[in-house]
Amino acid sequence: MIKKIRIIGVIGHPIKHSLSPVMQNAAFKAAGINYRYLPFDVKPEECFRFIRLLPRLGFTGINITVPHKETAYNSVDYLSREAKLAGAVNTIKVHNKKLYGTSTDGEGLLRSLKMDADFVVKGKSIIILGAGGAGRSIAVYLATKGAKKIIIANRTPGNALKAVALVRKASPLTIVFAIKLKDKFVRFYSNTSDLIINATSVGLNTTDTAVISHKAIRKGIIFYDLIYNPEVTSNIKEAKKGGAKTYNGLGMLLHQGAVSFEFWTGKKAPLSVMKRALQKGLREAP
Ligand code: ATR
Repeated sequence: MIKKIRIIGVIGHPIKHSLSPVMQNAAFKAAGINYRYLPFDVKPEECFRFIRLLPRLGFTGINITVPHKETAYNSVDYLSREAKLAGAVNTIKVHNKKLYGTSTDGEGLLRSLKMDADFVVKGKSIIILGAGGAGRSIAVYLATKGAKKIIIANRTPGNALKAVALVRKASPLTIVFAIKLKDKFVRFYSNTSDLIINATSVGLNTTDTAVISHKAIRKGIIFYDLIYNPEVTSNIKEAKKGGAKTYNGLGMLLHQGAVSFEFWTGKKAPLSVMKRALQKGLREAP
C-alpha cells in the first residue's frame, strides 16, 4: 500500500537560501514519516490568500519566514499563547480544515541557550541589542520565562520604548528599561548582566560595522547573536575580543525547527540528524 505523502511548506520572499528544507526533510526521513518539506516564494500581496488556501491545497502545515510572520498572525483561525506573545506566527498546522498558528522562535532560543550555553533564563539579567520584530518578541518571551531584568538597547529610542511597553504588559514583575545603543551604556549594564543578545540585523553582511565594540563587553559574559550566517559576525568578533563566551544563531534555528516538527507531527524531533543536515546545508550554501 502506498502511504499518503503529507506536504509541509515554508513561505518567504525571498526563500531560496532557507536551510529549513534540508533540516526538516532529514528529520522526516530519520523519523520514518512520509512528509515532504518544500520552499515557496510567496509575494507579500499573495501571502494572506496563500495561507487561507492551505487546507484546500492539502497542506499539513507550513513555516513562515521574513517578511510574512505578521500577515500569518492575521491569517490563522487560532493563535497559541506563544504567537500572541510574539505578535507573529512562524508555524501553522492545518487540522480539520482550520489553521492553528504558533511561534517557535522564543522556545527555540530558550532551548538553544540551555543546551548550547548551559544558560537558564530564570532570574537572569539580559541585555537585548535591537528592538525590531525579533528583538521585541524575544524580549517578551524571555521576560515571561522568568528573566529578572531585561534591558533594551536600540538605535532608535522610540522603538526601544515600544519594546519596553510590550514586556511590561506581558510580564509586569520583570524589571525592564531602555538604554542607548552606545558602548558606555552597554558596558555599564554589562557589569551586572548575564547575557547580551544581538537582535539587530547588523552583522548579516560581512562588511557591517558592529553595533558595539569590545569595550562594551564584560569579560566572561555570554554573547548570543541571533544571526548564524556569517558564522562569525562583526558583533561576535567584538564580543570575543572583549572576553565574552560567544554563540551564533544556528542553535536557535535548529531548536525552533525542532519545536515546529513537534507541533506538526506530535513526535520528538531527531535533533542530531537535524543539526548535521543544517551544518551540511550551511557549508554548501552560496
Ligand atoms: P527583524 O525582524 O530582524 O527584527 P527589523 O524589525 O527591521 O528586523 O529590526 C531591525 C533591528 O536592527 C532594529 O532594532 C534596528 O534598529 P532601529 O529600531 O533603530 O531601526 C536595528 N538596526 C538595523 N540597522 C542598524 C544599524 N545600522 N545600527 C544599529 N541598529 C540597527
